[in-house]
Amino acid sequence: MQEKELEDIERTLLLEAIFLRYGYDFRNYSQASISRRVRLFLEKNDVETIGELLPRIIREPELFQGLLFDFSVTVTEMFRDPPFYRALRREVVPLLKTYPFIKVWSAGCATGEEVYSLAILLKEEGLLHKSTIFATDINDSSLAKAKRGIYPLKQVREYIENFQETGSMHSFSRYYHANEEHIVMERELRGRITFANHNLVADQVFGEMHLILCRNVMIYFDKKLQNMVLDLFDQSLIRGGFLCLGGRESLRFSNLNDRYEELDSANRIYRKHFAHNHQLQARR
Ligand SMILES: C[S@@+](CC[C@H](N)C(=O)[O-])C[C@H]1O[C@@H](n2cnc3c(N)ncnc32)[C@H](O)[C@@H]1O
Repeated sequence: MQEKELEDIERTLLLEAIFLRYGYDFRNYSQASISRRVRLFLEKNDVETIGELLPRIIREPELFQGLLFDFSVTVTEMFRDPPFYRALRREVVPLLKTYPFIKVWSAGCATGEEVYSLAILLKEEGLLHKSTIFATDINDSSLAKAKRGIYPLKQVREYIENFQETGSMHSFSRYYHANEEHIVMERELRGRITFANHNLVADQVFGEMHLILCRNVMIYFDKKLQNMVLDLFDQSLIRGGFLCLGGRESLRFSNLNDRYEELDSANRIYRKHFAHNHQLQARR
């Protein structure tokens, strides 16, 4: 048997062991991405093969925490993909303005940059005071950073450029306090956001949402898992609610495609129909 095949078997066993021992289910993540991360983890910890790593992962929870951290890719930034925020302003905000209150879920929020960007947009549009925002992730150390809302000053120039591209008339500096090294996000923004650990693969619906954002998360899942998570979003969204997947994910090949209207095709912003298609058909 070739080395690659042996490695595939070992990786399958490792993911099974992690599920049995810790309850985290990475079995339906994209195997190419998991494979890359396991290899890097082996190198970093000076371990030769996955076979050697396996018993240690089962017996050393701290070592597992390191692997868990590496499995969850935390890359993010403020106003990432500015055209997405422009489309949100154009397609979704006018409709949100007609609602008496708004519940928002940012799923896979990483270190929080996306959810603060959203809170700023809602504030600019006069919607923040009637919004409740939930920001969730599986990675506790990312969530702790998100809760603090403190980011390195050296990244601010890039954030300002992104922010200007979103079509805002204001200055980004309105929304944080700066010291020599960091910016601290405005208390008013932080106060509207509840950060919590929620695993999209294992945990359930926790509320009825008007708007769900989940960008750059499902790219790490295989098709089966993507469909499962999309079902979870569908159960969590009110009729007429908005689902934002961003440029890299889509409903196109999912079971839900005909239950949503595409409001913006480039940024994959969808609106759930008020009636399910079979009901529409029955009425015809
Ligand atoms: C690349 S970041 C995306 C951050 C942000 N949404 C953005 O687009 O900038 C992916 C995030 O998904 C989270 N994630 C991965 N699997 C998850 C799961 N099963 N449940 C919840 N979050 C998950 C990771 O921990 C990571 O923080």
